[in-house]
Amino acid sequence: LCSFVFYNNYYSWQPNATVVGIGTALMGALLYRSLKCMKLLIKGGADVNRGSSLPMTPLVFTTGWGGYTNFVKFLLKSGADPNIPDAYGNLPIELAAKRDCMEEVEMLFPLTSPIPTIPNWSIDGIISHAKFESAKPLDGRQLEQTKATLKAHADHLFRLKDYKVASKAYGVAIDVAPSATLYANRSLCKLLLDDGEGALSDALRCRMLRPNWV
Ligand SMILES: *[C@@H]1O[C@H](CO)[C@@H](O)[C@H](O)[C@H]1NC(C)=O
Ligand SMILES: *[C@@H]1O[C@H](CO)[C@@H](O)[C@H](O)[C@H]1NC(C)=O
Repeated sequence: LCSFVFYNNYYSWQPNATVVGIGTALMGALLYRSLKCMKLLIKGGADVNRGSSLPMTPLVFTTGWGGYTNFVKFLLKSGADPNIPDAYGNLPIELAAKRDCMEEVEMLFPLTSPIPTIPNWSIDGIISHAKFESAKPLDGRQLEQTKATLKAHADHLFRLKDYKVASKAYGVAIDVAPSATLYANRSLCKLLLDDGEGALSDALRCRMLRPNWV
C-alpha cells in the first residue's frame, strides 16, 4: 500500500519537491487510511498543514471524516495547526465535536484558541454547542459546496494522472452524494487502471442514474 503511494508520487519523493506532489501523496495516505505512509511522508518533509491544493488541511480532513483518531494524534504531535478552519469556518475541534468524538475533542482542546461564538469554552460546552448546531437542518448551499470541493479535488488528482487516488477520491464524493457524473468519472479512472469489471459496474450505475446519457 505504502509503496503504491510512493510509486505514484516517485517524482515528488524528495523533501524539496513541489508541494502539490507531496500534498497529493499525503492526501493519498489519508484516503487509504495508512497511518504508516502518513508518518513516512511527514518525516520526509510533507507540510502537515497542507493536504492538497485545496483549502482542506489534513486535520480538517481527519476530524471531519471519522475513524482517524490515531492520525489526528500524530498530526498534532508533528505540529499541525488546529486553528486553521475548513472552507466554511469550522475548526477541527468543531468537526470532531459534531461527530461526538470526545477523544479527539480532548486532544484538540488545549491547542485550540477559544471560539467566540461558543460561550462555554469547555470540552462539554463545545460538544453540546456542536450538537445544537448539527440539529439544525443542513444548509443546502453548504452541501453543494462540499460536493463541489470533493469533486474538484478528485478532478485535480485525475489531471495529475494519479488515477488510483483519484478513483478513491471520487468514491468519497460518491459517498456524500452519488451522481451520474461522478460514476462516469470513476469508471474512466478504473478503465485507465485496467480494472475492466469495476469500470463496467460504475458505468452501469451511471446509466441507472441517467438513462438518457450516451
Ligand atoms: C458550561 O459548562 C459547564 C461544565 O460543562 C456546565 O456545568 C454549565 O452549565 C455550562 N454553562 C452554560 C451556560 O451552558
Ligand atoms: C467527469 O465526467 C464528466 C461527464 O462525463 C465529464 O464532462 C468530465 O470531463 C469528467 N471529468 C474528468 C476529470 O474526467
